[in-house]
Amino acid sequence: MGWKGILGFDYGVVQGPLGPDVSGPELVAAVANAGAIGILRAPDWEAPDHLRELIRETRALTDKQFGVGIVLSFPHKENLKAVLDEKVAVLQVSWGDFPKELVSEAHHAGVKVIHQVGCIEDAKKAKCAGVDAIVVQGHEAGGHVLGQDGLISLLPRVVDLVSDCDIPVIAAGGIVDARGYVAALVLGARGVCLGTRFLATLESFAHPHYKQKLIESDKTEFTNIFGRSRWPGAPQRVLQTPFFNEWRHLPDHENEENQPVIGLSTIHGVPKEIRRFAGTVPNPTTTGNVDCMAMYAGEGVGLIKEILPAGEVVKSLVEEAQYIIQQKLSHG
Ligand SMILES: Cc1cc2nc3c(=O)[nH]c(=O)nc-3n(C[C@H](O)[C@H](O)[C@H](O)COP(=O)(O)O)c2cc1C
Repeated sequence: MGWKGILGFDYGVVQGPLGPDVSGPELVAAVANAGAIGILRAPDWEAPDHLRELIRETRALTDKQFGVGIVLSFPHKENLKAVLDEKVAVLQVSWGDFPKELVSEAHHAGVKVIHQVGCIEDAKKAKCAGVDAIVVQGHEAGGHVLGQDGLISLLPRVVDLVSDCDIPVIAAGGIVDARGYVAALVLGARGVCLGTRFLATLESFAHPHYKQKLIESDKTEFTNIFGRSRWPGAPQRVLQTPFFNEWRHLPDHENEENQPVIGLSTIHGVPKEIRRFAGTVPNPTTTGNVDCMAMYAGEGVGLIKEILPAGEVVKSLVEEAQYIIQQKLSHG
């Protein structure tokens, strides 16, 4: 079974881009050094120089290839140009169309395109555009959630959709360990994309208190109370913190615009005021009331018991998946 590499990487393990700046150079380099696909996150605004700097910093930490993720809902033309100029191995896109012409442009620059989708219609568009891989995000996923379908039913549908071409399908949502990895392979995926598990690593640029909450908590919820004004129509899966439980029924007309400032963060080098119900998760620069900020997490969070080095996460995924396949699935 295909636990082996995809897209020229040693393994079919992808660290999903973690916004707004949680998958920075340290995390991406650690993942890359372990043979998996690490993905930086581009800013949500045009900042090509900053993005080039992130790419350079990552290259200083690893000789291996890696990728950059761009959320298409936000201005990104200049950022995209920087990614192609820098010729990173992989461009990950989500939350929008990425047509054939742009895929061809990326290919001309020697950059492979991974499109993350959350429904069969978007998978069809990605296939027609000629992408190099499709990430299928199930409703279990942490962060902003693209679709309504669970992974176990959506994934094989996308696998069937691309069965006439050689586009690897990568499973995302609720996968934390090798059991989830192997289950995804059985459903026809060639790789897995993990977000929450890589959030809870030593190298991720999440606030230490957020990391601690990931270990302590086991309940998440699909909601839209965070970031309604800045990014409408993008529901999210969050930890059920006491703050979330208090405000889970936030009336529809409320959003972060007119709320009190509850903290400050420097995000991609820019100081930002964080208002209550803002959609940005706390990073190590954040001051203020971190407990009341958004904390994204996938349904698999209850399986996370410790903060690990990212390389160890990759290693145990791969080694234990091999073990499960050889010991449990190969014999009658
Ligand atoms: C904190 C956080 C930030 C995320 N940011 C992004 C992002 O910027 N772009 C994106 O395509 N996906 C983003 N995702 C979603 C991941 O790419 C992936 O689909 C998801 O994490 C998989 O589910 P899991 O968290 O259960 O592993 C984010 C997820 C989390 C937890």
